[in-house]
Amino acid sequence: MLVALLPGDGIGPEVIVEAVRVLEALDIHGLIFEEAPIGGAAYKEYGHPLPDKTLDLAKRADAILFGAVGDPDCDALERHLRPEQAILGVRKELQLFANLRPANLFPELADASALRPEIARDIDVMIVRELTGDVYFGEKGMRTTDDGLRQGYDIMAYDEAEIARIARAGFETAQARRCKLCSVDKANVLETSQLWRDVMVEVSADYPDVELRHMYVDNAAMQLVRDPGQFDTIVTGNLFGDILSDLASMCAGSIGMLPSASLDAGGKGLYEPVHGSAPDIAGEGKANPLATILSAAMMLRYSLDMSQPADRIEQAVAKALADGLRTADLGGSATTRQAGDAVIAALAH
Ligand code: NAD
Ligand code: IPM
Ligand code: MN
Repeated sequence: MLVALLPGDGIGPEVIVEAVRVLEALDIHGLIFEEAPIGGAAYKEYGHPLPDKTLDLAKRADAILFGAVGDPDCDALERHLRPEQAILGVRKELQLFANLRPANLFPELADASALRPEIARDIDVMIVRELTGDVYFGEKGMRTTDDGLRQGYDIMAYDEAEIARIARAGFETAQARRCKLCSVDKANVLETSQLWRDVMVEVSADYPDVELRHMYVDNAAMQLVRDPGQFDTIVTGNLFGDILSDLASMCAGSIGMLPSASLDAGGKGLYEPVHGSAPDIAGEGKANPLATILSAAMMLRYSLDMSQPADRIEQAVAKALADGLRTADLGGSATTRQAGDAVIAALAH
């Protein structure tokens, strides 16, 4: 089994190292790692954020473990050369359309949540975010209006096939959970969302056991903070899912805790923390690696058919937290390395 390691920028390499140490501690037979540069790091070395050899490795691998991309030094580059284009490129090239972002609270972290513990306690939601369409991939550009003003534009569009396939991913995810699916859109304003809602209803006919409801995205943001326990599975578009998953992370304790899986139609996947490259703390050994370690667990479960070691990682993270592990984002002072060590130590129990 070949795992592509794409550490990227900022804290990406720092958190990937810890996830790899945890995987190595499990001593899984036949797991091979191969690393390639991506993002700003790749631009600086090869003049492109997604070099051919990196994309080739991503295609060859059975699964991809990804850190983060984004580097303030690169923010003024032409858009196609910016680090963020690399992750968008991998998602699109590999057709990783279904992005699963689970937000649940480890009970020990109730005090770290931005919500009151009695509200935070109930959060256990899977956000199923569409990942290869929407305003992210529509036509975009800069132009001049008739009045001579600069105008930026990004077209938001979904066709019915794109919506139907993420709808199925949403219904199937809900079926494996508590059979409640909330589709989040902005159908009161956007045509894209009206089609989204119509297709969700059409596809729901094939999943009579799943209770479907619809919610506007502004209300969904409010409801996630007011009463996160009402949600089981959320299915939503690329942009809304990006925003709601960062929001959900703080309900569950920290952006440093949320893992993700980005899957294609055949089970191949890219696994990455929901957070970014965190340039404000990069190189300081302060990053919480648990989101990436939990992403490695998702990788074992979803792409490598190894649910037992996946369970072991998740149990070890829970034990390390119960034993008092807290990185700075969780109100403690553990370093990135100490957090990795704590999980590895917990694996031995
Ligand atoms: P960010 O998620 O990188 O950071 C937001 C805040 O959360 C920062 O204060 C950061 O220090 C903190 N934080 C994030 N991860 C943490 C962790 N593991 N432990 C402790 N604290 C953590 O978001 P941003 O600042 O908006 O973006 C920074 C860069 O990352 C940008 O270039 C952005 O485009 C990129 N980005 C990349 C990805 C990705 O690669 N998938 C995701 C989000 C943002
Ligand atoms: C994420 C990130 C990316 C996104 C950026 C870096 C392109 O924010 O993975 O959540 O918007 O999808
Ligand atoms: Mn994001």
